[in-house]
Amino acid sequence: MDKAERLPRHVSFIMDGNGRWARRRGKERIYGHYEGVASVRAVMEASVEWGVEYVSFFAFSEENWDRPSEEVAALMELMGVMMEKELPTFMDNDIRFLVLGNRERLSDSLSATIDRMMTQTAGNGRMTMILFLSYSGKWDIFQAARRMAHDLIENPGRELGQGDFDSYLVTAGIPDPDLLIRTSGEKRISNYMLWQSAYTEFVFTDTLWPDFRREQYRAALEEYASRDRRFGKVK
Ligand code: IPE
Ligand code: IPE
Ligand code: MG
Repeated sequence: MDKAERLPRHVSFIMDGNGRWARRRGKERIYGHYEGVASVRAVMEASVEWGVEYVSFFAFSEENWDRPSEEVAALMELMGVMMEKELPTFMDNDIRFLVLGNRERLSDSLSATIDRMMTQTAGNGRMTMILFLSYSGKWDIFQAARRMAHDLIENPGRELGQGDFDSYLVTAGIPDPDLLIRTSGEKRISNYMLWQSAYTEFVFTDTLWPDFRREQYRAALEEYASRDRRFGKVK
């Protein structure tokens, strides 16, 4: 099997099922989020080892702001604490860290932490880890359309093609996901990367995110390797 062809360049995760994982153990939902961090670490370790170039995680959607305020607050705190804690790991492993999403809704302190992390890891080139935070696909497409319209008003003669639209999305410069893995048995996109997932392969697993570790990741990559990606062509 040709490794370059069979190993996805960009793997993305809709990390789902943390709350159910905790409730099944009679615990508060937030414990599931804490345990989910260990799954993120396991996936990152394996990705570095296997040579995946881009690994992204849907950590918090625009819709998730409507959850109970205690859960939102706990999640935001967890994000900030984890980012700071993982900085040495990013530096040791040459990992660039990006956070993409609607920054306007984040607290000033979390936003400052994100800026610091992104600046410090900007020169790292082995791999890119992306956290989608306060993100939604429709929000992304809308902000891109608005910025593009603004540019067209400023430069009326400018010709723009469909390919140029990519550069207005928050994912500008990042290859579209080759593989999207969603845990917990839900089979939907939940307003994630709508534009970018046009030709993404999907793997849905019943495993809850806190139980998703190296073996489950390997199985998903094997499933991906067995797929025939035709991109509309005849092979
Ligand atoms: C995914 O787990 C994490 C976030 C959306 C922040 P959930 O919190 O959605 O867990 P379930 O789906 O309720 O079990
Ligand atoms: C999707 O999970 C969002 C994230 C994983 C961040 P949700 O649990 O919010 O999705 P729905 O509500 O089941 O569609
Ligand atoms: Mg969920």
